Amino acid sequence: MPRTVLTFGTFDVFHVGHLRVIERAAAQGDRLVVGVSSDALNMSKKGREPVFSEGERLAIIAALKPVDEVFLEESLELKRHYIEQYDADVLVMGDDWAGRFDEFKDVCEVVYLPRTPAISTTALIEKISDLA
Ligand code: CTP
Repeated sequence: MPRTVLTFGTFDVFHVGHLRVIERAAAQGDRLVVGVSSDALNMSKKGREPVFSEGERLAIIAALKPVDEVFLEESLELKRHYIEQYDADVLVMGDDWAGRFDEFKDVCEVVYLPRTPAISTTALIEKISDLA
């Protein structure tokens, strides 16, 4: 049976921290499914419109070699539903979420990976704004 890994994120202004977490998530199993936050979810989660639309962010993530399947994550409340829908064996999240998804340990493994240091979408947006 192939081992399915599921991970989530906004992946706006795609950067090397995103690439590394996706590569490390893929290494946890045989098939990687990525839930990309919708524009509306990002707005409610981070309080800003993403730079790239959900369609653009989905297209970028879907084109990555380690990614087998993508879908739009519409609500933070649907994690359990998505785990079941994609038959996930492992849920992988960055350690900025450490402990926050332990409630799903009854249905799959939950793994938190350390973030790549010193890079984030927020920091990139600030850096680019300062240059303008
Ligand atoms: N991530 C990571 N290392 C980084 C930045 C992000 O491993 N330096 C991971 C997060 O832990 C998450 C995924 O990438 O699992 C998507 O994170 P996202 O929130 O979309 O990216 P951030 O750069 O953290 O965005 P923001 O600054 O808007 O919070």
